[in-house]
Amino acid sequence: MNYSKHILCIGAGYVGGPTMAMIAYKCPRYRVTVVDINPARILQWQSDDLPIYEPGLDDIVRSARGKNLFFSTDIETGIREADIIFVSVNTPTKSFGVGAGMAADLQYWEKTARQILNVSTTSKIIVEKSTLPVKTAKAMERILSSTTNGVHFEVVSNPEFLAEGSAVRDLENPDRVLIGSRQTPGGLSARDELVEIYANWVPPDKILTVDIWSSELSKLVANAFLAQRISSINAISSLCEKTDADITQVARAVGMDTRIGNRFLNASVGFGGSCFKKDILNLVYICRYYGLNEVADYWEHVTRINDFQKERFVTNMLNVMFNTLAGKRIAMFGFAFKADTGDTRESPAIYIAKRLLEEQAELVISDPRAIDNARDDLKDYLPRVSFTPDPYVAAAKSHAIALMTEWDDYRYLDYESIHRSMIKPAFIFDGRNVLDHRRLFEIGFNVYPVGKPVLTHL
Ligand code: NAD
Ligand code: UGA
Repeated sequence: MNYSKHILCIGAGYVGGPTMAMIAYKCPRYRVTVVDINPARILQWQSDDLPIYEPGLDDIVRSARGKNLFFSTDIETGIREADIIFVSVNTPTKSFGVGAGMAADLQYWEKTARQILNVSTTSKIIVEKSTLPVKTAKAMERILSSTTNGVHFEVVSNPEFLAEGSAVRDLENPDRVLIGSRQTPGGLSARDELVEIYANWVPPDKILTVDIWSSELSKLVANAFLAQRISSINAISSLCEKTDADITQVARAVGMDTRIGNRFLNASVGFGGSCFKKDILNLVYICRYYGLNEVADYWEHVTRINDFQKERFVTNMLNVMFNTLAGKRIAMFGFAFKADTGDTRESPAIYIAKRLLEEQAELVISDPRAIDNARDDLKDYLPRVSFTPDPYVAAAKSHAIALMTEWDDYRYLDYESIHRSMIKPAFIFDGRNVLDHRRLFEIGFNVYPVGKPVLTHL
């Protein structure tokens, strides 16, 4: 078949896989190849058991794979054949040297750029899909322009805003697609190529074209604003607990102001996920680099409130369970960082599990999709941690349930039978405020939500 564009994506992760599947699904005339250095991951993308769980993703992959969507470990051939290369490799927080614990680790990104440079024999558009510090494109341009063989690379920024668990929906109906380019003839023409791809299914008024630095920075800022909202509501949840106010009612009252809006105001055990923390720290690092220490301090507090919220949850458990957790069995309902994903990266459940284990509790972890990742996260703590997909098994003979993830499954369990199977007094700590607290109290539980009055028989 004659394809009208050859698209390559380097990095077959949570972003590369779903975004490319959507492009292939919506644009049958394009050939889309996704490559990765991890052969096991590629094998999974080629199988019926995809490496990530995302509602709706299986159907899209199945309908395009083998027709115009391909997964491969042959990165060099992929690069040679592509007109447009999306780079979607991981950009974690640097763990060594200058900027350790704050700056983005760009080694994977730079290795990819050098590989593109070494292998390419024709000119290409290089798309920054990964989240990167502002001004990364400049470094990329420098690396990519060090060739002498007449091959030209145009770097554009096209950050991804999908959220895990709703990736397919977000990709199909994005709030916006952001494309940043140089304002040169070459930059604008590369930008137009990218616009043409998304225009296959995204309405024109949702495709936003800006300069390249604004695009890179907007991605960091969007995540910082989202995380800030959660830290704001979580900070107020701690005040609610001191004043008998109810955070759900406060959030409703505040969110009905259309200037504030009602979304993303759910108090919780803290935000997790691979990006919020790393992207804020990256923003903080950039601000400090430019001497903007007040601005850096301001954003750094968003992560500090998040740490405070996680720690508060643990100390509350300890306090109300008579100041000792040693030898007590605690069932954790959910381990994923949010519902509808198996991803546990930076999940608040990891921190809380480790703190409970420090207090010598015994943990039983339950999750519909994240058990394998949870087992890996807590591998150093065996045999004091066990794992079961069945929440009834997890709860039996436990002193307490700590709900970590807002899976729908947990709303509809038979809590009467769970209560009967537990050690009394039975405690339930709802880290997501998703359970029917009054009903649980009537069943006999001592109920501790986040930012709401407790319901206790003690
Ligand atoms: P990921 O770790 O799931 O996937 C990255 C993949 O890149 C891995 O499979 C890794 O093996 C591969 N890789 C690394 N170096 C490579 C190389 N040199 N050649 C080929 N493959 C290589 O990461 P992710 O969650 O998909 O995130 C990727 C980027 O997208 C990050 O910058 C992240 O901040 C950003 N982002 C993530 C999300 C999300 O929801 N996870 C959303 C928006 C943006
Ligand atoms: C987030 C952003 O929402 C995406 O736009 C962005 O593309 C992505 O980060 C990224 O750059 O990686 P994601 O982390 O997948 O997406 O999921 P969110 O829905 O944003 O949730 C993040 C965390 O905040 C979760 O732990 C969630 O439980 C928590 N959260 C969310 C709350 O505690 N309260 C809320 O009201 C909303």
